[in-house]
Amino acid sequence: MKLKVLVVAGDGIGPEVTGEAVRVLRTVAELGGYDFEFREALIGGVAIKQHGLPLPSSTLDAALESDAVLLGAVGGNEFNSLPPDRRPEAGLLQLRQSLGGYANLRPSFAWPALASNSPLKAEVVDGADILFVRELLGGLYFGEPRSWDREAGSAWNTMRYTRDEVIRVARVAFELAGARRKKVTSVDKANVLEVSQLWRATVTELASQYPDITLEHQYVDACAMHLMNTPRNFDVVLTENLFGDILSDEAAVITGSLGMLPSATLGGTVNLYEPVHGSAPDIAGKGLANPLGAILTAAMVLRHSAKLEQDAQAVETAVRKVLEQGYRTADLARGQSKMGVTTQEMGKHVHQALNEIIDR
Ligand code: NAD
Ligand code: IPM
Ligand code: MN
Repeated sequence: MKLKVLVVAGDGIGPEVTGEAVRVLRTVAELGGYDFEFREALIGGVAIKQHGLPLPSSTLDAALESDAVLLGAVGGNEFNSLPPDRRPEAGLLQLRQSLGGYANLRPSFAWPALASNSPLKAEVVDGADILFVRELLGGLYFGEPRSWDREAGSAWNTMRYTRDEVIRVARVAFELAGARRKKVTSVDKANVLEVSQLWRATVTELASQYPDITLEHQYVDACAMHLMNTPRNFDVVLTENLFGDILSDEAAVITGSLGMLPSATLGGTVNLYEPVHGSAPDIAGKGLANPLGAILTAAMVLRHSAKLEQDAQAVETAVRKVLEQGYRTADLARGQSKMGVTTQEMGKHVHQALNEIIDR
């Protein structure tokens, strides 16, 4: 098994958490006798500082030549006054667009060992297991026209979807639901937006091809509430770009921390893997970042790009073990620091657990 991984660590806690994710991938490669090759490239604020651009062409070329791209995070306070097209985040959006992946999978899982880490009651989150399928290349993020007319004091963005864009991402949601609990909740704002009416009509039409899947529709505002009230009622949540961005961060509350959430973007020429969280400037460089979201993202690399399902599950089991053993980064400590660990220490504990699990 050979796999070329491009690591674009980016800004803030990006290098800290991807460092631990790469350590885990190296461990899996060593134990399984696989040939994983890692290359590094710049993106985001660090790329702006060195090359004047958030996505240098050398990074894009290296990404297109790889089998998988593992990204940390981009963004930093010093870039906040730049226009959107010159910010670190623009580099990430350009990378997503160039790689072409439109289905962003964001699982949110209530790890039993973390039941007391969620601000929600344990009996509410217990057993929750949600997979968000977020459309990643359309909607307000990419719609034209977009502009800020400073003189006129007005600005606009365009929310646009085509039927084909909805069909291709909805298909992914139905297929994935078929291997899970066979329910898709499609989230929109069809009571107000034409784009959402197109979305709902298209998803409903496609559902007829999947008779064993139950389809329900929710408005995004109600969904935001239901997610906190009855998270167990959700299986696969299918939604457009911006709604998916917001709801997936909200779903971090079910898990207990944003630092726990992984993602994988499929459907393009090269799959892109990134934890859901950002560069967390408030804790960067202090060894406080939770690397488990990035490590679970590495598990998704094993599952979706390397097709090593057993090893992907081994990494997930290792994460479950370290949580059961009581190790907690600061975001998970909630006042109890008995087993408090740094980013690197957490990575080492996962590495140790993996060694015990993968026994060939
Ligand atoms: P954020 O996700 O960086 O942080 C939100 C909160 O969660 C912060 O309190 C942070 O400390 C905490 N947090 C996030 N990840 C954590 C981890 N692994 N361990 C422990 N705590 C963690 O969001 P923000 O503060 O709104 O944005 C900061 C910057 O990151 C912005 O520039 C934003 O645009 C960027 N961003 C980038 C990505 C990405 O690269 N994929 C995603 C989201 C935000
Ligand atoms: C995410 C982030 C990005 C998004 C930003 C940084 C462009 O918030 O991956 O969730 O909005 O998609
Ligand atoms: Mn986000």
